[in-house]
Amino acid sequence: MTLQDVRTVGVVGCGLMGSGIAEVCARAGFQVIVREVNEDLLRKGLDRIRASMAKAVERGKLAAAEMEAAWGRIRGTLRMEDFAACDLIIEAVVEDMPTKKQVFAELDRICPPHAVLASNTSSLSITELGSVTRRPEKVIGFHFFNPVPVMPLLEIVIGLQTAEETVALGRALAERLNKTVVISKDRPGFIVNRLLIPYLLDAIRLLEEGVATMEDIDTAIRLGLNHPMGPFTLMDFVGLDTLLFIADAMFEEFKDPRYAAPPLLRRMVAAGWLGRKSGKGFYTYAA
Ligand code: 3HC
Repeated sequence: MTLQDVRTVGVVGCGLMGSGIAEVCARAGFQVIVREVNEDLLRKGLDRIRASMAKAVERGKLAAAEMEAAWGRIRGTLRMEDFAACDLIIEAVVEDMPTKKQVFAELDRICPPHAVLASNTSSLSITELGSVTRRPEKVIGFHFFNPVPVMPLLEIVIGLQTAEETVALGRALAERLNKTVVISKDRPGFIVNRLLIPYLLDAIRLLEEGVATMEDIDTAIRLGLNHPMGPFTLMDFVGLDTLLFIADAMFEEFKDPRYAAPPLLRRMVAAGWLGRKSGKGFYTYAA
C-alpha cells in the first residue's frame, strides 16, 4: 500500500498527542476517525483540536475556510470497531506496554488486512508491538512531538520486521504533513528521548541537590543555550506522568541509572501533579 491508497486515518487516543495527530492529518486532507474511552475525554480532545485550529487561524497559519473543512473531516468515536474503515491507524494511548499491546491486538483483529498500524510511542519497542499482530511488516513507529501542529519533526522507528514499503509510506506521510523525517532503529527512546530524558532527569537531580532553583535552571538553559523552554517548563509541558512512563521504560531496558526516575518525580506523579494539564507540576498554572 502507498500513501495514495490512504483515505481515512484512525487515531487511537485524543489526549495531547492524539489530538495533535488528528488535527494535522485532517488539515492535510485525510478523513480522520479519533477514538477515546469515554464521552468526557472525547469532548475534551475534540475541544483541544478546535482550539488549536482556531489559534492557527489567529496566527495566519490556516484559512478560516480550511479550518472548517478540516474540522468537517474529523469524526470522534468511542468504538474501536470504527477503525475497520481506516487504511492507516496511529496509536497514541498511554505509554504502557500492556495497554499498547492490547490496542494493537484489537486493531489487528478489526482493521482491514492492508492497513498500516503505527504507534506514537516515545520509548517502547515497535518490534514487540508488531509481535502481537499478524502483520508485523505493517507495524511502525511514528513519533510526533508536542505541539504536533508546530513541531517539524517526525521520528520514524523501524522494528525488526517492518517492511521497506511501510517505511516508504511513513516518509510520504511526513512529506504530506510537512514534517522532516529522521529514522531510528528500535531502541528505547530512539534518538530524541535517548538524549532528552537523562537531561530532564538530571535537571531534577540538580534541583534536589540544591545546586540552583528551578527558575534559575530554566533561565540558564533558555538564555545560555537558546532552548525555547528550560527543562522544568518543558517537563510540565510534556506531562510528568508521561515523563515517568518513558523513564521507567528506558530504565527497565537499559538498567542504567541515568534513566532512573528521581524520587521527587515519582512523588509528584503520585500526588497528581502532572504539569500543565493538571494545573500544577513544577510550576502552577491558571485554570
Ligand atoms: N497551528 C499551527 N501553528 C501554530 C499553532 C497551531 N495550533 N500554534 C502556534 N503556531 C505557530 C505560531 O504561529 C508561531 O509561528 P511563527 O514562529 O512562524 O510565528 C509558532 O508556532 C510559535 O507559536 P507561539 O508564538 O504561540 O508560541 P511560542 O513562541 O511561545 O512557542 C512552543 C511555543 C512552540 C511550544 C515553544 O515554546 C517550543 O518550541 N517549546 C519546546 C517544545 C518541545 O520541546 N516539544 C517537544 C517536547 S518532547 C516530545 O514531545 C516528545 C515526547 O516523547 C516526550
